[in-house]
Amino acid sequence: MFSANDCITNSWFLSITTAVIIFCNLCYAFEENNGSFPEGFFFGASTSAYQIEGAWNIDGKGENIWDHFIHENPMRIVNNDNADVACDSYHKYKEDVFLAASLGFSAYRISISWTRILPSGYMGIVNEVGLKYYEDLIDEIVKYNMKAVVTLYHFDLPQQLQKDFGGWTNPKLIDIFVDYSRIVIERLEKVDYWITLNEPKVICNYGYGSGEIAPGLKYQEFECAKVVIMSHAAVYRMYKNEFPNRKAKMAINLDCEWFEPKTTSSKDIAAAQRILEFEIGIFAHPIFKGGWPKAVKERMEKRRLMENSAISQLPKLTEKEIEFINGTFDFLGVNHYVTQYAEDDSENNVGRKRNEINAGVLVTVDPPWNKNSLGSTVAMWGARNVFKWLKETYNNPEIFICEYGYSDNGTTLEDNERIRFSRMYLSAFHDAIYKDEVRIFGAMTWSLLDNFEWTSGYSSHFGLFTSIKMILTKRGFRRSQHSFSRS
Ligand code: BGC
Repeated sequence: MFSANDCITNSWFLSITTAVIIFCNLCYAFEENNGSFPEGFFFGASTSAYQIEGAWNIDGKGENIWDHFIHENPMRIVNNDNADVACDSYHKYKEDVFLAASLGFSAYRISISWTRILPSGYMGIVNEVGLKYYEDLIDEIVKYNMKAVVTLYHFDLPQQLQKDFGGWTNPKLIDIFVDYSRIVIERLEKVDYWITLNEPKVICNYGYGSGEIAPGLKYQEFECAKVVIMSHAAVYRMYKNEFPNRKAKMAINLDCEWFEPKTTSSKDIAAAQRILEFEIGIFAHPIFKGGWPKAVKERMEKRRLMENSAISQLPKLTEKEIEFINGTFDFLGVNHYVTQYAEDDSENNVGRKRNEINAGVLVTVDPPWNKNSLGSTVAMWGARNVFKWLKETYNNPEIFICEYGYSDNGTTLEDNERIRFSRMYLSAFHDAIYKDEVRIFGAMTWSLLDNFEWTSGYSSHFGLFTSIKMILTKRGFRRSQHSFSRS
């Protein structure tokens, strides 16, 4: 955990010793560097409403798909944990913002809980208490001279919209999301950066494809992708049309893993490109270039033939829709955590994970790679490569890194691994900026607090701060003098 003296400044990096990490298999070298970041670069921390707020049914908040999923299926979460109280940030938001400011951060990211504003998800009852809560929270952020980065949707769809419409697979959601967003944007005038949706890949692939997370549905990831991307575009266009005097920038936030070809064969090189297009391009291509990526269209047509199906699972985008989505960005929000290998497996249509089958790619890792407590593999040259790829593929957009981070299992308060990983990630971002000329203007770590890590409950800790209560009741540790704890 950070101590009070670890304030992050543009030159905090100077003290870092140079280390060279050699990854044995393909001998990738990554050199940790000690440079400064550009003047005005934002350092910050990210959070999301559902993972920290708690107060799940307080002050008029309605039920969302995560409340429903967990209360109906407690055993799907590690240790049957739930987020009914979480970090209790609904009541302790001032303390959270103070903690972020105490580290010298210049940006703090939150998300809005849709059902705190519109309890059923629809227009109708607008919950003033919910709006006031976020207004006060943003005032607090601004009070410390931090930029307020606000996500309109971070995985917590109103349950009523799931029940009545089937959630993000129904095009009716597009206008409903615009109505909700308009109310929030109108009221929260002090926001500096708007994120429309966090990680559409996770929303669609795991919520509506494999069914691992709420709402737990299967085989509808491509319908979801179309509705989500249209919803993003509709909110962006509404914002630009109806709030022409607002200075805040708006973007979508994509989860960008890096996939390295397993070998130098042309098939594996194409496989890596293909899975990047399935995971990133399916959302980025319509926004930055227009329409679905070619590799996705071709592969989905091949799958249609392999399955002997009359229609492709990939919905069509009309010319009008392509035009409507294209150009709806002021920058690109990027979350980066993971690097993996991609190997061609395009003849296989069964077994394995759904996203791998869709892309016709076998995903593997190298045993010596660093892993976090969720088992995700981290390779720093991968972190640099993904930014270079984004720059080259999407015509060098400005990039705000909205999440990077490292999780452990919370067995110690000595944060040596988190510090080591943060330094390596930041070195990779630094290389991307100075060696590859990627236009990254800020980086926010995930997360400020140990929080509710979705199906992993409280078993994985990403926070710079932990909860003394969580530690005392769950693991019996004492507060470390090197660490901050919140009471
Ligand atoms: C999500 C966060 C999550 C983090 C760590 C991102 O996918 O936006 O909500 O907690 O990764 O797993």
